[in-house]
Amino acid sequence: MKILVTGGSGYIGSHTIVELLAEGYEVISIDNFENSTAEVNERIKIISGKSFSFMEADIRNPDSLKRVFEKHTDINAVIHFAAYKAVGESVEKPLHYYENNVSGTINLLKILEANSIKNFVFSSSCTVYGNVAPNQLPVTEDSPIQQAFSPYGNTKQICEEILYDQCVSEKLNVVSLRYFNPIGAHDSSLIGELPLGVPNNLVPFITQTAIGKREKLTVFGNDYPTPDGTCIRDYIHVVDLAKAHVAAIDYLHKHTEKNAFDVFNIGTGAGASVLEAIHSFEKVSGMKLNYSFGPRRAGDVVQIYASCDKAQKKLGWKAARDIDNCMLTAWNWQRKLAEQNI
Ligand code: NAD
Ligand code: UFG
Repeated sequence: MKILVTGGSGYIGSHTIVELLAEGYEVISIDNFENSTAEVNERIKIISGKSFSFMEADIRNPDSLKRVFEKHTDINAVIHFAAYKAVGESVEKPLHYYENNVSGTINLLKILEANSIKNFVFSSSCTVYGNVAPNQLPVTEDSPIQQAFSPYGNTKQICEEILYDQCVSEKLNVVSLRYFNPIGAHDSSLIGELPLGVPNNLVPFITQTAIGKREKLTVFGNDYPTPDGTCIRDYIHVVDLAKAHVAAIDYLHKHTEKNAFDVFNIGTGAGASVLEAIHSFEKVSGMKLNYSFGPRRAGDVVQIYASCDKAQKKLGWKAARDIDNCMLTAWNWQRKLAEQNI
């Protein structure tokens, strides 16, 4: 069974390839290295002790995609990670985001249609739910989609709609995974998240502060209507998330003729506040983190965490790791980066 992975050298893509190879899948990975490096591919091979095909390709360029499908004529399914993902940057450069995330996805779907490839897994986000009322938590897949807070969030909503339409026209069979907050790194500390410049996300900011790359963490708001006043998220370990993709591929292969658009929340089902995340980091690292409270960050939702019942029931998938394991592996990865002066 051959799986094409777009954005395979990125954070979630690399962990997913490791899990696919472990389950005996053949992998063809493509990436343009805009937000990753070729070194990641070597590390995936070291971890898994297996090889896979790689081609440098850009999903915005149809000719470059064509070359991939001319070389590999027996692809059974596609997992599509390649995209830009910085919420703030998407507000500054919306066209950049629509071009890569939406036009890139359309290019890919066109070539799948031309090659009669039907099984497709999409990287979506819980951002599609927007701000959810506390009495609606944990959020289920039936919760209404709300107007996106950012062009990035909107690209996920638009792509889900496009994918839905392709399923109705019987040209596609889709699983859209709505990730909550992916964090952590592989146990080997050979692959993990590599944020470019100053991190926007909480966990890389915590680990970079602890290692001395940043002076201190600012907690964005402590006056929210939550038990400790800080925002609540559902932090999911990237290895658990990677395994959800393998489960999605297995599910699609069992239901190939369905032409269905299925969405699944991928989280742990439990929320943690920013302060709880910090305390977890302090516990596993044995360090005191330098942090202070600052104003709220524009666009942040107050609290969100997933109901993962549907994924458990239909995909047979459930997160196995807790926030302490997420923090420990993220910290080990940060220390490994520091050894290499990264
Ligand atoms: P990432 O930036 O680490 O990985 C994306 C990879 O895609 C990178 O290796 C990048 O070089 C590549 N890429 C980007 N544009 C490309 C193009 N035009 N052609 C070929 N390759 C291209 O990001 P990630 O965290 O691994 O995210 C993967 C997917 O998951 C994205 O679609 C993202 O929007 C989605 N997602 C991520 C999160 C998160 O918090 N990390 C949350 C929800 C959804
Ligand atoms: N936070 C801080 N200080 C920081 C960084 C973050 O207090 O320096 C707080 C945020 O205010 C938020 C929480 O930590 O309350 C988590 O913030 P992240 O930026 O790590 O994650 P978000 O939930 O804001 O966003 C993430 C992804 C988005 C995606 C969204 C929903 O980064 O791409 O989840 O899937 F859209």
